[in-house]
Amino acid sequence: MVTSDTAHAGPSLDLLPEHEMIRQTAREFAQKEIAPVAAEFDETGAFPADTIAKMGAMGFMGIEIPEEYGGAGLDTLSYVLALEEICKVDASHGTIMSVNNSLFCHAIYRFGSEEQKRKYLAPVASGKAVGAYSLTEPMSGSDAATMRSRGVREGDEYVINGRKSWVTSGPVANYIVLFTMTAPEKGHKGISAFIIETDRPGFVRGKKEPKLGIRASATSEILFEDYRCPAENMLGEEGQGFKIAMAVLDAGRIGVAAQALGIAEAAYEASLGYAREREAFGRKIGQFQGISFKLADMKTHIEASRLLIYQAALAKERCKETGGRYSLEASMAKLFASETAMFCAHAAVQIHGGIGYSKELPVERYFRDAKITEIYEGTSEIQRLVISRLELGLR
Ligand code: CAA
Repeated sequence: MVTSDTAHAGPSLDLLPEHEMIRQTAREFAQKEIAPVAAEFDETGAFPADTIAKMGAMGFMGIEIPEEYGGAGLDTLSYVLALEEICKVDASHGTIMSVNNSLFCHAIYRFGSEEQKRKYLAPVASGKAVGAYSLTEPMSGSDAATMRSRGVREGDEYVINGRKSWVTSGPVANYIVLFTMTAPEKGHKGISAFIIETDRPGFVRGKKEPKLGIRASATSEILFEDYRCPAENMLGEEGQGFKIAMAVLDAGRIGVAAQALGIAEAAYEASLGYAREREAFGRKIGQFQGISFKLADMKTHIEASRLLIYQAALAKERCKETGGRYSLEASMAKLFASETAMFCAHAAVQIHGGIGYSKELPVERYFRDAKITEIYEGTSEIQRLVISRLELGLR
C-alpha cells in the first residue's frame, strides 16, 4: 500500500516488519561504518577490505543463500532493500556486495552441485572470501557469445587459456565463476562455466582499471596461462555456460537496479536539503520552478524505479519455485533505474551549482558512480534489446 506521506524523501511503500528490519539494519550499518570512509576510499581507490569483512559478518554478502551454506537465508526483496541502503551511502561497497551476492553466490547456488555449494558458497556467502564473475573479454563485451578464451579437456582437467576483462573484484577475488569456450565450433552452445580457484598456478591478475566512478571496487583483467581446472569444477553441464551466464545476469541486473536506486535517492535527498536551505535572489532556491520541477521529476523517477525493482524482486522470488525466467522484469528495472540514477545525479550537480562540482560534497561522486549502472551487466542498449525481443516474441 502506498502512503500519503510525501513530505519526506524516503521510500513510501509499506513493507512487512522483517523487510523494514533489514532495511533499517542496512541503513544504520551504512551510516555508521561506510559513511565515514566512503570519500577516502573513493579518493585512494583502495579496496575496503575491513568494511567488506564487517558486511560479511552482518550477513550482507550472501543474503539469499540459505544459512546451511553460510548465507542469511532471506528473500530477494531483503537483498534489494539492503543493497539500496548500502549504495545510498557508497556505490563502491554496493558493487562488491552485488557481484558477490547475485553473480557469484547466485550462480553457485542455482547451478552448482551439492559438493560445489558446500565448498565454495560457505566461505563467499559468509563474507570470509570474495567471489567474482567473468564473462567479458577485450573483444567480446555486449556480444558475449564471441569469446576467444579456450578451455581444452585433458584427462580429468580443462586447460584454460585467455584474457578476460572488466572483472569486478578481479584484483582480490578468491573464487571466480568463469565462462570460456570449450567447443568453439558450436558458438554460444560451446561455452562452459567453471569455478576458478585463484590461488592455483596459471591464474594471473592483470592490470587494475583506473575508473571514473565506483573507484573503491577493484576491477581488473585476469589472465589464464595454461591454468589446469579440475573437470569437477565445471558449473552445470558442458555447453550450458552461455545460458548460465545470461540467467545469472538476470539476477545481477536486479542488483544493479537497486544500486542505481540507492545512488538516485542519495542525489535526490542531497538536492532536497540544499533546495530548502540555499538562498538566491532573496528566496530559497526550492521556490524557483527551475529547481522544484527538477525535484518533482527526480522523485517521480525514483518511485517508479522502486516499483519496477520490487516487481522484479518478486518475479525472481516466484521463479525460485517455478524455475522460469524473469528477464523482462530484471531488464526493465535495470534500464529505468540506471537512467534514473544518471538523471538524478546530473540534476543534483546542477542544483548544487559550484559546490556540487566540488569534492567537498559527495554529490560529484554520485554523478561519477551513477554512470557505470548504465554500462555494466548489460548496457542500456542491451536492456532495450532484451525487453523488445521478449515483447515482440523474437526470443
Ligand atoms: N536466461 C536463460 N537463457 C537465456 C537467457 C536468459 N536470460 N537469455 C538468452 N538465453 C538463451 C536463449 O534462450 C538462447 O537459447 P537457445 O540457444 O536454446 O535458443 C541462447 O541463450 C542464446 O540467446 P540469444 O540468441 O538471445 O543470444 P545473443 O547472442 O543474441 O545475445 C544478448 C543476447 C542479450 C545480446 C546477450 O549476449 C547479452 O545479454 N549481452 C550482454 C552481456 C553482458 O551483460 N555483459 C556484462 C558482463 S558482467 C560485467 O559487467 C562485469 C562485472 O564484473 C559485473
